[in-house]
Amino acid sequence: MNGELSTMNCELRNPLHFSPMVNTVTIAPSILAADFARLGEAVEQVAGEVKMLHVDVMDGHFVPNISIGPPVIASLRAATDLYLDCHLMITDPLRYLGAMKDSGANGVTAHIETVPNPVPVIEEAAAVGLDIALAVNPATPVDTIMPYLDRLSMVLVMSVQPGFGGQSFIEDSLHKVEVVRAAIDARGLSTDVQIDGGIGMDNINRAVDAGANILVAGSSVFGTDDPAAAVRDLKSRIS
Ligand code: DX5
Ligand code: ZN
Repeated sequence: MNGELSTMNCELRNPLHFSPMVNTVTIAPSILAADFARLGEAVEQVAGEVKMLHVDVMDGHFVPNISIGPPVIASLRAATDLYLDCHLMITDPLRYLGAMKDSGANGVTAHIETVPNPVPVIEEAAAVGLDIALAVNPATPVDTIMPYLDRLSMVLVMSVQPGFGGQSFIEDSLHKVEVVRAAIDARGLSTDVQIDGGIGMDNINRAVDAGANILVAGSSVFGTDDPAAAVRDLKSRIS
């Protein structure tokens, strides 16, 4: 079984877009909610159900928490062929793109709040061979990323304040997803739209209806006794 659920009607591929997720609706389990002493087991638990793992990189500066970085990503890379989607909640993403690539990341997401001019990050990601996405925090308007839409593989709309798993979903984020999806469709782009934070059985359907096609799920997957079953349940809700 794979993570694909349905196709979306998009014509163009961004030249920078290497992600296998284009045009598909998929669950991206966030390993932030897994037991860090047993990451390999966590990956094995969901590997048959998904194509992408969401890896939260936090620096204790942009967000008030510290998680993992390139050494752990390298260990994950050795353990799986899944697409490693690395969410960079760090103040200086440009500085770490080379290390992300070397450690085996497939794609990285930088926060627009950290790179008000993201062009150098977009260009460096392309130079080293990473998919590049931009994220907006709950308080950041999506207008900030619109000028760069055609250069991105993905847009991430945060539906919680970044930094911690297990928070409550912020409903206003659905409208932001709608605005981003409408802009992508209007321009005929194939950009993925990811939503991250508080996604579970009670809201995943609405996130997809709003236009998100990559659904990050941490607690609702690894916070359960059976992560594979939890992914199947989430898929069934949106199939
Ligand atoms: C929060 C992270 C999320 C987090 C999601 O800063 O970016 O990826 O792991 O966890 P849940 O699904 O528990 O909200
Ligand atoms: Zn994340």
